[in-house]
Amino acid sequence: MQKIDGKLVSQAVRDELTMLVKTLTGKGLRAPHLAAVLVGHDGGSETYVAAKVKDCEEIGFGSTLKRFPSTIQEAELLGEIQRLNDDPEIDGIIVQLPLPKHISPEKVINTIDPAKDVDGFHPQSVGKMVGGLPTFISATPYGILMLLEYYKIETKGKHAVVIGRSNIVGTPVSILLSRNTYPGNCTVTLCHSATPNINELCLQADIVVAALGKPGFVTGDMVKEGAVVIDVGTTRVSDASKKSGFSLKGDVDFDSVAPKSSFITPVPGGVGPMTRAGLMKNTYLAYLGREEKALKAAGL
Ligand code: GUN
Repeated sequence: MQKIDGKLVSQAVRDELTMLVKTLTGKGLRAPHLAAVLVGHDGGSETYVAAKVKDCEEIGFGSTLKRFPSTIQEAELLGEIQRLNDDPEIDGIIVQLPLPKHISPEKVINTIDPAKDVDGFHPQSVGKMVGGLPTFISATPYGILMLLEYYKIETKGKHAVVIGRSNIVGTPVSILLSRNTYPGNCTVTLCHSATPNINELCLQADIVVAALGKPGFVTGDMVKEGAVVIDVGTTRVSDASKKSGFSLKGDVDFDSVAPKSSFITPVPGGVGPMTRAGLMKNTYLAYLGREEKALKAAGL
């Protein structure tokens, strides 16, 4: 069994981006810039957004954090996003989800300029991803692909069982793993809450991606010997021994699954750090797309 080290791989991605930013600024060009929009005070969202801003600082990207009260009206929020769309210095925009109930996430996502859609949630980005065209791949699926690639895990001809059909993870991962490329070329089974025989299907999997948000759902008896196990779960469970009062629990029961697996991601320290790396890479790609002329002029 080999533990997949998301912290190590994400650091490697950030180191590479740091070097690329130095090349840009060394040629007198501006650095890539990410704008994060945070509405209200959801604990998880606060942590994620703070981490994204910190990653930008470490890499040398510019960052803007726009905070709004949970009482902001939808029209006003859409106007703020439009302003970020129109700002030539901003390359990537993310609106941290979830949003308060009175705001439609679809309307918000549809308002983001697809050229700045570094979360890859806009219908145009999703459509291109499904069609196999170059686009922003949302950060968590992108991070999972980077882990498979880094550890040179064979995917061609393998049976991947994805558990969970969310728009953010399960659905895009199932599409990406079935594409005719590497990582990809898997036979994919997408399991969800209406799948009657998840255990049976999971036992047939060479690669298991657990993304349903139920702590410890995948147990050792559900996994075949030698399977690759990717745990996307990050449920906060109260834990009095932690300063924060909670610990993060994955969808995989690590202790019973790890001995049977060939590769496994821990929680924390597996997919989580890679989500952030995926977002940083997308921000850099957005910059490249938007600054094509300046880059050519600088001989880059
Ligand atoms: N909420 C949970 N995951 C994500 C993500 O990847 N991006 C945004 N914007 N919000 C999220």
